[in-house]
Amino acid sequence: MSPTEYMAPTTPSRQWKHKDLLSIRTLEPWEIDLIHDTASAFKEINSRAIKKVPALRGKTVVNLFVEPSTRTRASFELAANRLSADVISLESSSSSFKKGETLKDTGLNLQALNADFMVMRHSCAGAAQFLAERLRTGIINAGDGAHEHPSQALLDTFTIRERLGRDLKGLKIAICGDIMFSRVARSNIWALLKLGADVTLVGPSTLVPPVFKKLGVNISHKLEDILPEAHVIMLLRIQHERQRQALFPSLGEYVSLFGLTAARFRKCRPDVVIMHPGPINRGVEIDSELADGVNSVILEQVTNGMAVRMAILYLLSGGQPLHVAPGAPLAPHITSPAS
Ligand code: CP
Repeated sequence: MSPTEYMAPTTPSRQWKHKDLLSIRTLEPWEIDLIHDTASAFKEINSRAIKKVPALRGKTVVNLFVEPSTRTRASFELAANRLSADVISLESSSSSFKKGETLKDTGLNLQALNADFMVMRHSCAGAAQFLAERLRTGIINAGDGAHEHPSQALLDTFTIRERLGRDLKGLKIAICGDIMFSRVARSNIWALLKLGADVTLVGPSTLVPPVFKKLGVNISHKLEDILPEAHVIMLLRIQHERQRQALFPSLGEYVSLFGLTAARFRKCRPDVVIMHPGPINRGVEIDSELADGVNSVILEQVTNGMAVRMAILYLLSGGQPLHVAPGAPLAPHITSPAS
């Protein structure tokens, strides 16, 4: 392989320097780009016959999910496996949380087992930061209450970049649904604004209160108004588990005003990108045919999630930025098949 096919970093200031990944709010735009570029390099590995490389050999990753998850947990677990880390997954229902052990003590015990990283989902906002401030182990926030879900926003912005083949500057992006209780919305708002997109939040006023304007986004309570211009429509599930009171009259009324139906889809740009972090409620926030249609990137989001999470683990472990020419092979010490 010639040295021009891949390059080690040349600018130390552009190297990842955080122990943890807790939020998008605290990232610089170049750090988001760095994760995206690294994910592009790792995505190729996931299409190989042997999907395993030695980049994290000897490292230990613990998945600690105190809330349910399908996509995030599976893709962090697969990402760590594909990088040759040792991985274990703990659930609250079968851990000593059930016996009253505190989050701090759980973290200290996992650190005593030499865990290099903990990927944590928790129902309390700030839980990941709480542990990050008390442990040497790197903490990756896989969703904390309604606060942030940084890896979701990173995979969402990666998917937009990939589908449209361009950066996000000036793109009109609508996030529709339960913004109030959504950590995905908060992380995406930060990521999209940092990358230069024009963001509009759409939904009933009880779920999209005016206070969000302070972040620099637009607000609309009428989905029809934003459809003709939106390059991307990101739909969100109603977070029933976090709502303590009825915030709209009925699900039927919500669908009639904010569901992405076939009739509303006809008002959209022909190339509109339809996104959803999952799990989707077919027939509520999105019609089933649209979820499965050619404008939908819902499953691409899931596929990209693994490459993005490989990039996160790799960079947090001290991996050097990968600057790879399109189509060129990667550095062999990072990405040759693990033996
Ligand atoms: N998008 C997302 O976080 O999905 P899971 O809850 O299944 O992880």
